[in-house]
Amino acid sequence: MSDRRQRWEATARNREPILAVLRQVLPPGGTVLEIAAGTGQHAAHFAPALAPRVWQPSEPDAALRESIEAWREAEPCPFLRPALALDVMDAPWPVETAQLDPPITAVVAINMIHIAPWDACRALMAGASRLLADGGVLFLYGPYKVSGGWRSDNDPAFDESLRRRNPAWGLRDLDDVAAEAASAGFTLARTVDMPAANLSVVFRKAARDD
Ligand SMILES: C[S@@+](CC[C@H](N)C(=O)[O-])C[C@H]1O[C@@H](n2cnc3c(N)ncnc32)[C@H](O)[C@@H]1O
Repeated sequence: MSDRRQRWEATARNREPILAVLRQVLPPGGTVLEIAAGTGQHAAHFAPALAPRVWQPSEPDAALRESIEAWREAEPCPFLRPALALDVMDAPWPVETAQLDPPITAVVAINMIHIAPWDACRALMAGASRLLADGGVLFLYGPYKVSGGWRSDNDPAFDESLRRRNPAWGLRDLDDVAAEAASAGFTLARTVDMPAANLSVVFRKAARDD
């Protein structure tokens, strides 16, 4: 039978540095909901490494969900759940209507918000805010501008190539992302410089005064 596992080079490259940060910033238990899980390479690598947390991948693209399932079959792990069909734009998310056990304590989205319209970033924040209790973690990873400035010589060309593919895509400014997160009830807890001028960005759900 043919191997349905898709393999992306960047995902294979960044999985160890991202895992090192996840180990530090994820809550010690609960379910981690992965948005935009892509091929499933991250899910297959992270789930056994981050046990006893349960890893719940999700992905809107059916062909990619097949790849996630193929990774799960090839590298079975009791802490890795089957992939859910989840598009952040479609509220409520399936995990809101059928509660997960254990409850979701973190939401992770890697290399997503620059390859989707800005509205998808807003929907990601809103959905994560609906799901997470106070202290819950929203973890983002990817390339960013900061205060209008590029962080690497390669980023302007990368940004242009994204916008050529879809004018609504492009590198996001961390200031805009943090402002959107704040309006969804998150505080920026930490940023971590990552290889190839990427950033890990850690938000924490804050208790509301009202
Ligand atoms: C560059 S891939 C990253 C995949 C994976 N996280 C990785 O790092 O290998 C971008 C992903 O964003 C997903 N995506 C785009 N728009 C989305 C949306 N509205 N809701 C959820 N996922 C979305 C795509 O399906 C794709 O899997």
